[in-house]
Amino acid sequence: MHSNSCCVLFLVYACIVCNVIHAQPPGPTKILLSCGNQKGGKDADGRTWEPDSKYLVNSDKSVESKAETQDSSLPSDVPYMTARIFNAETSYKFSVNGSSRIFLRLHFYPSSYPNFNISNSYFSVKAGGLTLLNNFSAATTALALSQAYILKEYTLKPSDSNDLSLTFTPSDKYSGSFAFVNGIEVIETPEMFDDTTEMVGFSGGEVSVMVEATKASMETMYRLNVGGQFIPPTNDSAGLMRSWYDDTAYILGASSGVTNKANAPITAEGLTGTLAPLDVYSTARSMGPDPNINKNYNLTWVFEVDANFTYLVRLHLCEYLYQKVNQRVFEIYVNNQTASETMDVIALAGAANHPVKKDFAVHVNGKQDNKEIWVALHPNVDVKPEFYDSLLNGLEIFKLDDEKGNLAGPNPELSDLMRKQQEHNNKKFAEEKSYTGALIGGAAGGVAAFGIGAAIIFVIQNKKRRNPGDSVSSWLPLYGNSHSSATTGSGRSNGSTTISSDAAANCRYFSLAEIKQATKNFDESHVIGVGGFGKVYRGVIDGDTKVAIKRSNPSSEQGVNEFQTEIEMLSKLRHRHLVSLIGFCEEGNEMALVYDYMGKGTLREHLYNKNKITLSWKQRLDICIGAARGLHYLHTGAQYTIIHRDVKTTNILVDDKWVAKVSDFGLSKTGPNMNQGHVSTVVKGSFGYLDPEYFRRQQLTEKSDVYSFGVVLFEVLCARPALNPSLPKEQVSLADYAMRCQRNGTLEEIIDPQLKGKVKPECLKKFAETAEKCLSDHGTDRPSMGDVLWNLEFVLQLESESGESKHSRVPSGSVDGSVHQMDHGSVMAMHKSTLSLGSEYDEKEQSEDNPDEIFSQIVNQKGR
Ligand SMILES: *[C@@H]1O[C@H](CO)[C@@H](O)[C@H](O)[C@H]1NC(C)=O
Ligand SMILES: *[C@@H]1O[C@H](CO)[C@@H](O)[C@H](O)[C@H]1NC(C)=O
Ligand SMILES: *[C@@H]1O[C@H](CO)[C@@H](O)[C@H](O)[C@H]1NC(C)=O
Ligand SMILES: *[C@@H]1O[C@H](CO)[C@@H](O)[C@H](O)[C@H]1NC(C)=O
Ligand SMILES: *[C@@H]1O[C@H](CO)[C@@H](O)[C@H](O)[C@H]1NC(C)=O
Ligand SMILES: *[C@@H]1O[C@H](CO)[C@@H](O)[C@H](O)[C@H]1NC(C)=O
Ligand SMILES: *[C@@H]1O[C@H](CO)[C@@H](O)[C@H](O)[C@H]1NC(C)=O
Repeated sequence: MHSNSCCVLFLVYACIVCNVIHAQPPGPTKILLSCGNQKGGKDADGRTWEPDSKYLVNSDKSVESKAETQDSSLPSDVPYMTARIFNAETSYKFSVNGSSRIFLRLHFYPSSYPNFNISNSYFSVKAGGLTLLNNFSAATTALALSQAYILKEYTLKPSDSNDLSLTFTPSDKYSGSFAFVNGIEVIETPEMFDDTTEMVGFSGGEVSVMVEATKASMETMYRLNVGGQFIPPTNDSAGLMRSWYDDTAYILGASSGVTNKANAPITAEGLTGTLAPLDVYSTARSMGPDPNINKNYNLTWVFEVDANFTYLVRLHLCEYLYQKVNQRVFEIYVNNQTASETMDVIALAGAANHPVKKDFAVHVNGKQDNKEIWVALHPNVDVKPEFYDSLLNGLEIFKLDDEKGNLAGPNPELSDLMRKQQEHNNKKFAEEKSYTGALIGGAAGGVAAFGIGAAIIFVIQNKKRRNPGDSVSSWLPLYGNSHSSATTGSGRSNGSTTISSDAAANCRYFSLAEIKQATKNFDESHVIGVGGFGKVYRGVIDGDTKVAIKRSNPSSEQGVNEFQTEIEMLSKLRHRHLVSLIGFCEEGNEMALVYDYMGKGTLREHLYNKNKITLSWKQRLDICIGAARGLHYLHTGAQYTIIHRDVKTTNILVDDKWVAKVSDFGLSKTGPNMNQGHVSTVVKGSFGYLDPEYFRRQQLTEKSDVYSFGVVLFEVLCARPALNPSLPKEQVSLADYAMRCQRNGTLEEIIDPQLKGKVKPECLKKFAETAEKCLSDHGTDRPSMGDVLWNLEFVLQLESESGESKHSRVPSGSVDGSVHQMDHGSVMAMHKSTLSLGSEYDEKEQSEDNPDEIFSQIVNQKGR
């Protein structure tokens, strides 16, 4: 009897203890759940995630599942590789502090899960009375945004209830529909919004309209460390685990100003700690040193958002260059309306080196299809500040819930190109399961499951794989930041480097001994460049055949995947105007790719490097036509549409017979300095050639290549780099400068002096018009690569004509004609005939006159 009650007491006591330990650790709530995972685990940043089952209210309606494929861009297994899948409405329940604001983050990895077809997954998510997502398709969203996984972040207003319920409901509109989630974060935060925030577009009159942000729940749309680099969750302030992204991808046009960094420490005084980490305030973007230029442009960022919502736009500001008021005063426009006429950061913050924030609200009503938020800065000239400049350190955009407690927007739309690709692939997938499986399985992992545009995704995934930071959420740029933990996770874990038999059959296999012999044991004197995953060597095989050999850096885990991807992809692409893969070597830790050797190096070095050879107008046209053919083939001729993404004069190589070949397609190009920060990473995307629309919309289409090719055409005509910061500001960007001259009819004045008088006026006109069309602001206004090709051939025809009838102008080598040369045997034969000795790639070019460095100079320009 006695012992019995003691036992009961003990049990009760044990229960209390266990409740205390498990349910509510002391301090603010901080819950990280790895869903469908019974053990939990650590992520790439070292954060510990716990199993989710004990937070489930009705666990019988859900199953735990494991993703069948691991996309290489996942930063770590936890929390993405396991999921909880819901067949019927199911809730989680968390105990929280009802007086506090809560950060809620949902992680979705729309991969294939056994017995579930991810394309059928449509669901809604509610938190308390708030609708976070409705008819949400993680697969469509990830596809449209070219991301392997999606992160959604919400900040929930204090609810007065100490229970937070989170409910997943599969849509009843689709048969076989289910809901799922991979990771959940619930983090308590102090209130970070103000009672009143002024709505732009209503001030100036008697009334102003205020938004009560403290009474709103929100979805984070964008969070940027302007002029700085990616800040991972573990480096956020106050333990809020937010990620801060690079802003470069959102800048409108070529006028991206300059970035700079504080020399002195920023004072934390007055900063609540929840506002932003000090790192955000210690970097900024401003307009540049020249007051006359600054007077004439707006430093503008553009963001895509959902229509019919009100947004809170938060500017983080800190003046660390100047000390006094009225030194730098500027106007702030939000959606083309004046939000602030006289922003003087020192006046607002009370002192230099003091961080401060400024909020505005704006309603996006979707009229005229407008789904964008523009934030623009311009010096206020009227108040006569000492310097005509403006400044921004950080920017956040939050979507406010509407009167019905809704935050859900529509799924993003697939571009036409992607839709077509998806249909095509679905068909292909069914027909040729094994073949496609091999290609995708080795390349794009998680995205393969729902048979989407493998090549597109595959290219993008590869380009951005090294930056997990930029693929984590729907509000991120495709690329443009550097996340130092890039090499964690993924890597070799998701499989061997086995090359598919299909690819192997198309390529020659080299032994390591052969490779070593060809490169004199990787002698440094044979290095001709540094590419995707390591050094590129010049070498000789079969006694006298010159080749370029790309050696994988054994210490790079990513190299493994890239190596495989490249073989799979390149072995299927054979074209006279593409640099061809001859074979590969894989032995132990060593991996190498063997390519065609291009005797005459890059197009660029024949345009304006010290190099003596000056190309004639006709030679230039021939090279442009060849390159256009190669690109046209990539876009339309191969099995999948392939977007090159890095078209520039250094990626157009020329063989001994002056045949142009496009190189580095489907490849990410990682310079050796990629870990030094966002500048070089961004630069890798090749500034001066980047499609502004791609930046704005984050949607990659083949028209981005057309844009870059337009820049190449002007470069060929004017014989100057795409970016040349030593020129006066208005001439720095060739794209802008040439377009201005073209519109003013002064283009002739800026063409290569060597060409003056040697180009027929009608040819110049047609050529310039073609280039101009390529540079149209909107992709839809740009010609296809096929049209460009046709136009260039027409120019060539005109140029060669000596008064003959203009009717015989049908280009000689028609588009189709060149595509048929892809027969493997004949291509290999062609290699042999075009491979021969010649001048080498100019290695110095890489370091001396590297556009990458040119750009980093602009970006790094200190202050003024
Ligand atoms: C709950 O949140 C409020 C507001 O943030 C805070 O003042 C209070 O101390 C919190 N209570 C507990 C028990 O943490
Ligand atoms: C998955 O569902 C989609 C759309 O319902 C369908 O087209 C596709 O064939 C399905 N895939 C598989 C592997 O069953
Ligand atoms: C994050 O913080 C650590 C420790 O303070 C620092 O070493 C690291 O450079 C930071 N990383 C970034 C990307 O800011
Ligand atoms: C926005 O609301 C208006 C009026 O209710 C409606 O006509 C329009 O279709 C909505 N736009 C979007 C994108 O939902
Ligand atoms: C702002 O104005 C520009 C041109 O002046 C226009 O293209 C853009 O759509 C406008 N932005 C918004 C959000 O209204
Ligand atoms: C800057 O933007 C505002 C608002 O859209 C516009 O009125 C102004 O003309 C722009 N200024 C320049 C120099 O582009
Ligand atoms: C759900 O989303 C899909 C894909 O985005 C869309 O086609 C469909 O119309 C939506 N359905 C509803 C009921 O809104």
